[in-house]
Amino acid sequence: MQQSMHGMWSSRLAFILAAAGSAVGLGNIWRFPYLASDHGGGAFVLVYLACIALCGLPILIAEVMIGRHGHRSPVLTFQEIAAQTGASRAWSGIGWMGMVAGVLILSFYSVVAGWTLHYTWLYLRELLGGPGIADPSATFGELLGNPLELTLWHAAFMLMTVAVVALGVEKGLERAVKFLMPALFGMLFLLLGWGATTGHLGDAAVFLFKPDFSRIDGAVFLTAMGQAFFSLSLGMCAMMTYGAYLPREVSIPRAAIGVALTDTAVALLAGLAIFPIVIQYIGTPTGGGPGLIFTSLPNAFAQMGALSGLVFFFLLVVAAWTSSISLLEPTTAYLVERTRLSRRAAAASVAALAWLLGLASVLSLNRWQEVRILGFGIMDFIELVANDLMLPLGGFLISVFVGWVLSGRIVREQFEGVPEAVFRAWLVLVRYVAPILVGIVLVRGVMARF
Ligand code: TRP
Repeated sequence: MQQSMHGMWSSRLAFILAAAGSAVGLGNIWRFPYLASDHGGGAFVLVYLACIALCGLPILIAEVMIGRHGHRSPVLTFQEIAAQTGASRAWSGIGWMGMVAGVLILSFYSVVAGWTLHYTWLYLRELLGGPGIADPSATFGELLGNPLELTLWHAAFMLMTVAVVALGVEKGLERAVKFLMPALFGMLFLLLGWGATTGHLGDAAVFLFKPDFSRIDGAVFLTAMGQAFFSLSLGMCAMMTYGAYLPREVSIPRAAIGVALTDTAVALLAGLAIFPIVIQYIGTPTGGGPGLIFTSLPNAFAQMGALSGLVFFFLLVVAAWTSSISLLEPTTAYLVERTRLSRRAAAASVAALAWLLGLASVLSLNRWQEVRILGFGIMDFIELVANDLMLPLGGFLISVFVGWVLSGRIVREQFEGVPEAVFRAWLVLVRYVAPILVGIVLVRGVMARF
């Protein structure tokens, strides 16, 4: 098959924008800066870059490759490959696990994205002459303590996600990213400019890039690897699904390098935009977590003006939006292939399921705050299982499958026109380096956390 029944990207750029849109999200603008600040700045950044290059990039190439070979949703693609090559049909379990992980991640991702919608609204209201945020920690606390409010914003974000996916690959996903990604870059550079006017760009750069090697320990590797997977949207077959819509003539390694570079650049630029503002208005960045974005920065925006707050939170909304569609698309595609549901009905059903599951995360922030699963709150537990276990496990299995099980003929077909040296280097990474490193991180992560 040369085409997917779901449609195809119209160009290499369309694929890169869509895949980079999936990759660039809350993970880059909210999670990366505070992880870097928690784990020694430059030391963490260095390990993170190594994880991206040695594991992230080869597995990204592997996912896109499998997807383009099958031109179908992950489960059916694995089944077809199994039939063609005599591999076990059990490999399609990777696709199943990916769909489960996608729905789980979407359930809490949409809740957090709902917070960013709420803040966008608060700043818009202020800009239109309404009241401003007087006490940022109280505002954040009130939001988290209000299940109804959280549920409505969560629902609003989920509807935005369904609206795009329901329209399909060309009219929905591609049109959305062609419009949203330039807006995202524009807002990022605007913030970078604001950050630079504080005169602290240099301090921020030192903070982010000057490695303190004494800070590199086992925990840094675990965290950096997890972040590499999450940031590149790997391990749950989202990139595989996007690969299914990739036309034959596009070189996969080149496109994948474009995506990985964009994702990494946005994370670093987000740090260079946020830290000068933090340093100017709040002081030396220490730790962060949700607080960095939702409580510290509003303190700065109170002095910089409501427009800066609006731009920042709208940037987060856009980044989260182009990511959430990639969480919904694989399962939607599967239902379209396997049931008689229309794309619209399929997307709406999966989103409804993720929305319902998200209510558990909403309630774990207030009414069910005391509920513990293996010592974790509900939202943290879902995040832990999906991000830290299912994604690396998925990535590990994908690299083993492509490196050791998939027939050489199928692999070579997808590397047509790619220089031999690039192919050889990728093969070594995907066969040995990635599975070994990811395997170590996975085992150590499980031992450390449970
Ligand atoms: N990469 C996104 C971010 O950085 C989140 C995301 C979207 C994702 N799709 C994914 C993570 C698939 C893992 C798997 O925010």
